[in-house]
Amino acid sequence: MPNNTAEQLATEMPDLQSYWMPFTGNRYFKQNPRLITSAKGMHCYTHDGRELIDAVAGLWCCNAGHCHPKIVEAIKAQAETLDYSMAFQLSHPTVFDLANKVTAMAPEGIDYAFFVNSGSEAVDTALKMALAYHRIRGDASRTRLIGRERGYHGVGFGGISVGGISPNRKMFGTMLPGVDHLPHTHNLSENAYSRGLPKWGAHLADDLENIVALHDASTIAAVIVEPVAGSTGVLLPPDGYLQRLRDICDKHGILLIFDEVITAFGRLGDNFASSRFGVTPDLITTAKGLTSGTVPMGAVLAKSEIYDTFMTGPEGAIEFFHGYTYSGHPLAAAAGCATLDVYKEEGLIERARSMEGKLEDALHSLKGEPHVIDVRNIGMIGAVELEPIAGQPTARAMQVFRDCYDKGVIIRTTGDIIAFSPPLIVADEHIEKMIETVRSSLRALN
Ligand SMILES: Cc1ncc(COP(=O)(O)O)c(C=O)c1O
Repeated sequence: MPNNTAEQLATEMPDLQSYWMPFTGNRYFKQNPRLITSAKGMHCYTHDGRELIDAVAGLWCCNAGHCHPKIVEAIKAQAETLDYSMAFQLSHPTVFDLANKVTAMAPEGIDYAFFVNSGSEAVDTALKMALAYHRIRGDASRTRLIGRERGYHGVGFGGISVGGISPNRKMFGTMLPGVDHLPHTHNLSENAYSRGLPKWGAHLADDLENIVALHDASTIAAVIVEPVAGSTGVLLPPDGYLQRLRDICDKHGILLIFDEVITAFGRLGDNFASSRFGVTPDLITTAKGLTSGTVPMGAVLAKSEIYDTFMTGPEGAIEFFHGYTYSGHPLAAAAGCATLDVYKEEGLIERARSMEGKLEDALHSLKGEPHVIDVRNIGMIGAVELEPIAGQPTARAMQVFRDCYDKGVIIRTTGDIIAFSPPLIVADEHIEKMIETVRSSLRALN
C-alpha cells in the first residue's frame, strides 16, 4: 500500500480527446473513463479514488506485483547511469547478464536469448529465425508456417497470419502467404470443468500429419502454438497434445515454437510452460513477466543448434539481418535482471505452484452460478466461460467486467470468457475477494 490513501491519490481528469486507445471501444471509454493512477503490490488505484485488486497482473505481466521496490530501484539506477547505448555493433553489460539469467532458467538446450520490445516482436522474430534457419541449411523450400485456430500471437503481420482470432485478422488484407492452421483444442462437451490439463483431445495434434500430407514436409518451416492459450480465453492443452506435436515436428524436420509470452516466468508455477509440461520446443517467445511489466521487453530463446547454424558465415559479417533500435534496451535489461532476481529470492514461482490448488478450488466453486458453462485452470491462470447473450456475443462478460470494477476487482474478459491471472504474490484473501466479487456480479446479471 502507498502511504497515501486512495482518495488522496485521486487526480484530475486529463483531456481525453487525442489518445487513440488500443483494443478499446474509444467512444465508450471516453464517456466512461477508468484511469489507473498508481499501483502497489496486488492493488491499483484510480483517478476517482478507488482501490482495486488486480486479478490479471496488468495484462498477464506484473508477476512480481506492482511497483516492486527492487525492480523500481534497478530501473532508477540504470536511468541515472546509462540511458541508451547503440544496439548494433555496440552493447552494454546488463543485457549480457540478463541473457545469462534467462537462459539459466530455460529448459536444457535453450541457451541463447535475442531481445525485442514486445510479444508481437518476439513472435515475428521467431518466425524469421525459423525461415532463415532452414535457408542457411540449404532447405530454402521450407517457407510455410503453421499456426492454430484461436491462437493469439500479437498484432504484427507475422503474428496475425499464424494467429487464429478472426476480428484480429479480417480487416487487414491477405497477410503472409503460405500459412495453415491446426484446429483449436477447445471442446466443452468433452472437457468442461477440467482441473488442470483436459483428458480428451491429444489426438487433435495428429491434424499436423494431415497438413504435412497436404503441403509436404519439405515446404514447412515451423509450427507455432501457445502451450496454454491466454488471450483467446484460456485454452489448456489436452494431456499429451504438446508432446505429440513435438514428435510429429521431429519426424518431419519442422521447428516447434512455443509462444510463452504469458506462460513464461512463473505463470504456471514453473519457469516456463515447456518445463512444466516437459516438452522442449526449438524456440520460445517471451515478454510480459520478463520485466514484470515494468519496461517493455521481449525475448526469443533459441536452442544452441539454431544459434550455431547462424554462426557459420565469415566472422565479422552480420549473421541475422534483424533487430530493433531498442533491442536489449538498458532500462529494460536492468528491469529484467532485477525481476528475475526477485522471482528467485522471493520464491515466487514456487509460491505460484503452491497457491494453484487454492485458486483452483475457489474458481471451481463458481460452477452452478448463473450463466456459467465452464471453469478451467492451471497454475495462476483461470477462466470462467459464460453462455453468451443470444445475438450479443461478449456483452454478458463485459457486464461482469464493469460490475467487478465497480466492486473493486479488475478482471479481463475476452469473448464471453472471464480470465484470471493474478500477480504471483496473490494471497488467500485476494483470491477470496476476486472470486466472491465475480460471484456477486454473476448473480446481479439480468
Ligand atoms: C501468447 C501471446 N503472444 C504474443 C502476444 C503479444 O504481446 P504484445 O502485446 O507484447 O505484443 C501476447 C499478448 O497478450 C500473447 O498472449
